[in-house]
Amino acid sequence: MKLRVLLLPGDGIGPEIAAAARGVIELCARKAGHDIAWSEGLIGYAAFDRHGDTMPEATWKQLAACDAVLFGAVGLPERDRATPPEMRPEKRALLPMRQRMGLAVNIRPVRVYPGLEALSPLKDDIARGVNLTFYRELTGDMYFGRRERSADGQRAADECAYTRAEIARIARSAFAHAGAARLKVTSVDKANVLGAVGLFWREVVEDVQRREFPGVELEHCLVDAFNLYLFTRPASFRIVLTSNMFGDILSDGAAGIAGSLGLLPSASLNPDNGFSLYEPSGGSAPDIAGQGVANPLAMILSGALMLRHAFRDEAAAARLELAVERALAAGARTGDLLRGAPPAGARRLGTQGMADAVAAFL
Ligand code: IPM
Ligand code: MN
Repeated sequence: MKLRVLLLPGDGIGPEIAAAARGVIELCARKAGHDIAWSEGLIGYAAFDRHGDTMPEATWKQLAACDAVLFGAVGLPERDRATPPEMRPEKRALLPMRQRMGLAVNIRPVRVYPGLEALSPLKDDIARGVNLTFYRELTGDMYFGRRERSADGQRAADECAYTRAEIARIARSAFAHAGAARLKVTSVDKANVLGAVGLFWREVVEDVQRREFPGVELEHCLVDAFNLYLFTRPASFRIVLTSNMFGDILSDGAAGIAGSLGLLPSASLNPDNGFSLYEPSGGSAPDIAGQGVANPLAMILSGALMLRHAFRDEAAAARLELAVERALAAGARTGDLLRGAPPAGARRLGTQGMADAVAAFL
């Protein structure tokens, strides 16, 4: 398959992990017979320094002319302080991109790799085998509802609203994945109190399951209880279906279980037209940027998600994921993975060294 992939490295460690990951992704895609037509664009402060805009018109044009995006990171706390809120990358680039490109389905896998249990802040026996994937709704909820500020300055409100179609869309994606892999779906809501992300959410999710995915096991969990279980029995969850706001909060907490953000990929899909964006969960990490030590695995694993969801090549995606697993099992470690008690054979590698270690297993 041939697809046009736009690389948006962005800020901080974005450019270095993008450069290292690109080679590995290209290699895996080529071996599977795919043809990636790469292009590159500017976003975040990288774009601001050239065009005076963290999301220039030129980048919107590139987005309209590609099939998928591989995204590094945006935002630099130091620059944010000197930048008006509406020009900061999350407000100017990230959220508008989600909305305008219709990226309603956000997929965030969290895995504790065999042998990396010591990295987790949880006890080994609780962290062992954690392998869950969030399906977070990404274009609704309080993120995009009406905002109000009363004239007297004494009241503010963020509307939380969902349509049946929006809930059904994210539910379908979660059930489809769960069904194909024979996994249980845990839907997280606040049905004991709230309307939109409560009773209505639960009703629509049940409806989609009953009509379209009767063979898929579904359980409901209240968000406060789920937050507790995430730290007491995280390995008992596989597919977690939830709203935009709950998904934002819970997926960061779950990321903490893995012990390093450098390992966690993500995908955001437009289920109507197939457009998709892939990015590491980690952010721009300005404290280690430019040193060649950042972990490229989250970006490489985001490339695996791209092979799975954009190229629809499950086998190639699984090969790339297995290559990462093998490199880790062989002792390949970036600095972020050397906390705790690293195994005897652990080797400290830089960004490119880690990418090469993965490529060696392809
Ligand atoms: C995320 C981020 C964003 C969000 C911010 C940067 C707007 O935290 O992708 O989870 O809240 O969705
Ligand atoms: Mn977040």
